[in-house]
Amino acid sequence: MPIRLQEGTPPTDDLWRVFDTTGWNDEYQLSPAELRTAFESSWLVVGAYAEGRLVGVGRAVSDRVVHAMIYDLIVIPECQGAGIGGQLLACLVDRCTTAGIRDIQLFCARGKRVFYETRGFVARPEDAPGMQYRAPTKAS
Ligand SMILES: CC(C)(COP(=O)(O)OP(=O)(O)OC[C@H]1O[C@@H](n2cnc3c(N)ncnc32)[C@H](O)[C@@H]1OP(=O)(O)O)[C@@H](O)C(=O)NCCC(=O)NCCS
Repeated sequence: MPIRLQEGTPPTDDLWRVFDTTGWNDEYQLSPAELRTAFESSWLVVGAYAEGRLVGVGRAVSDRVVHAMIYDLIVIPECQGAGIGGQLLACLVDRCTTAGIRDIQLFCARGKRVFYETRGFVARPEDAPGMQYRAPTKAS
């Protein structure tokens, strides 16, 4: 299946269809408009198209000099395992390195560690992990 990679935020309906396959919105509770804003506010968005249909996406948020964070690397389930995610990731990393960005990071979803390790990423040391803010729960 020939894949075309294209930079730029895809149409909202297509983006939503791809994002909705992940189940991540159970946590984020985004509207389609909010999802669009998140992508449009990113430094770089890359879509993967098969016969004109969006089948995958990925994005990087960056200060364009020091840090880039790759988010929302997604390939629709029926197209996974055909190299599209690897192509998207390579494209995002290549654009970051070409721009001279010093530090490229991402959050690794459960079960995807080998996917990223075989593509140049290493887990942060256990004594210097990534951390995530969790709002305190209200006392009842
Ligand atoms: C993670 C994700 C983007 C990977 O996309 P993908 O298109 O399946 O990725 P690839 O096909 O490039 O690679 C997946 C595997 O298929 C194998 N593969 C690659 N090209 C292949 C081909 N032509 N034929 C068969 N298998 C192939 C790869 O070896 C790879 O195996 P590995 O993980 O053991 O290295 C996809 O699984 C996904 O969208 N998951 C749900 C969302 C998610 O969790 N995203 C990650 C957030 S951190």
